[in-house]
Amino acid sequence: MGARIPVLEAQPESLALILDAGTFLFSAAMVAGIAIRTQPGRATEHLDLARVWRDTIDGINFLREDSIASAMTGGIVIAFGAVGAVLAIGPVFVTSTLGADPSGWGLVVTAFGVGMGLGMASAGQAAKALERELLFVWSLIAAAVALFVLATMPNLSWAIVFTVWLGAFCGLAWVSGYTLLQVNVADEFRGRTFGSLTAMSRMVLFLSLAGFSALAQAFQSLIDAVSSGQFYLGGQRIDLSGTRLALWTAGLLVVGAGFNTRRLLKRYRLSRPVPLTLVPKLKRPPATGLFIAFEGVEGAGKGTQIKMAEAHLRSLGLDVLVTREPGGTSAGEQIRELLLDPGTGKLDARAEALLFAASRAQTVASVIRPALAEGKVVICDRYVDSSLAYQGWARGLGEPDVLSLNVWATQGLFPDMVILLHLEPELGLARSEDEPLDRMELEGQQFLAKVADAYLKIAEEHPERFVVVDANRDPATVFDSVREALERAVHERDDHHPAS
Ligand code: TYD
Repeated sequence: MGARIPVLEAQPESLALILDAGTFLFSAAMVAGIAIRTQPGRATEHLDLARVWRDTIDGINFLREDSIASAMTGGIVIAFGAVGAVLAIGPVFVTSTLGADPSGWGLVVTAFGVGMGLGMASAGQAAKALERELLFVWSLIAAAVALFVLATMPNLSWAIVFTVWLGAFCGLAWVSGYTLLQVNVADEFRGRTFGSLTAMSRMVLFLSLAGFSALAQAFQSLIDAVSSGQFYLGGQRIDLSGTRLALWTAGLLVVGAGFNTRRLLKRYRLSRPVPLTLVPKLKRPPATGLFIAFEGVEGAGKGTQIKMAEAHLRSLGLDVLVTREPGGTSAGEQIRELLLDPGTGKLDARAEALLFAASRAQTVASVIRPALAEGKVVICDRYVDSSLAYQGWARGLGEPDVLSLNVWATQGLFPDMVILLHLEPELGLARSEDEPLDRMELEGQQFLAKVADAYLKIAEEHPERFVVVDANRDPATVFDSVREALERAVHERDDHHPAS
């Protein structure tokens, strides 16, 4: 083709540009053919600059009010600025500073693309190792460092190595930042958040395309005026140039943006209320203690087994604290009184669940967490699983809601082991016949049958925390199984915390 068209022989890349221009022409012809109905009032409407300005200010104000959006936007927008810097001065950097021929820039762009692909592909794996917020901040900072090192390299080959890294960290930052925003921004603000982010990123990108070229030239004039523009790094001569200095500046800006984002994200985390979602074990204290709950229907013999367990653990030299629910604190005991006194009468199921959770929140905060932090073994007579079985299943509030409520109330504190003393409910009530019935026991046989069923279902769902013991045997035989479970829990604790 070059033989027929002389221009192509001298500049073969013109063919690609001509084809590109052809596609634009085709699109323009297509769009021109579309009949767009003009609305009578709008036909004369023209670009209102005041409105553009108002929208931009609105966007900035919106971002300022929304802490996660503003934390992320700063980082992302500055990163776009740095990309603009690379696009603006990269080609000159490659040819004049690194002394490569113009095709070198193509190699740099390809290396960046490859790196970006690798970074994006490894984002899922990286998110398993590091929280997304940290991943975003550190990949931003790592990208800045890669840009800095790349701008320091003496030749194209080394520059390409660090361009791959730059691309990889940019890819990681992009995927983690985007996901973070998607996950944390409420649905009603999503459109505005991403709209503002896109508009600002584009604006900064264009500004930096112009600004960094000017900055590189200013740096170059300064170098020409004051020094020979050379220094040595590990015996290697590095020529100082305007583009190098401008790229370093871009790197520094991104490092600053990374640390600023980290500060804002920290503030966001502190001000964010812990959501009522399923995040069990999130806030387990870094303790050496051991938390064991006993569960079962009325009359399953929890009281007897807990006494035997306490004595046995003490005989092993362990520091043991026994508490009960509802109760365990003075406020808790008053709540217990209210909940179990038949005189209270019928309570709304939600009110009942909240009262049990309130007593639990108090016990967790003032008794259980402090004891675990001191390394004690805490035995609790009933805990969250009572609420799941009684309020969630038997009262019909549903396990997920009662679980969410209790995750919040306990701030995610769950037992290391739940020992469920399983007893058919008829046998349980028969055992406790000689005592006056409390408000819950007055619910009768059918209610207790639901509870017994529910316990088994929950135990099946969570084999990692449950040990089911058949309680329809004499107390000493039941305790053989309980002791075995306790010793296993103690050993597992010691394996995790060998120093204690
Ligand atoms: P309690 O006398 O401690 O029962 P038991 O001696 O059988 O262990 O009374 C607690 C009652 O409260 C019992 O009927 C179970 C019920 N309960 C719930 O309904 N939800 C809960 O979260 C808890 C802790 C107990």
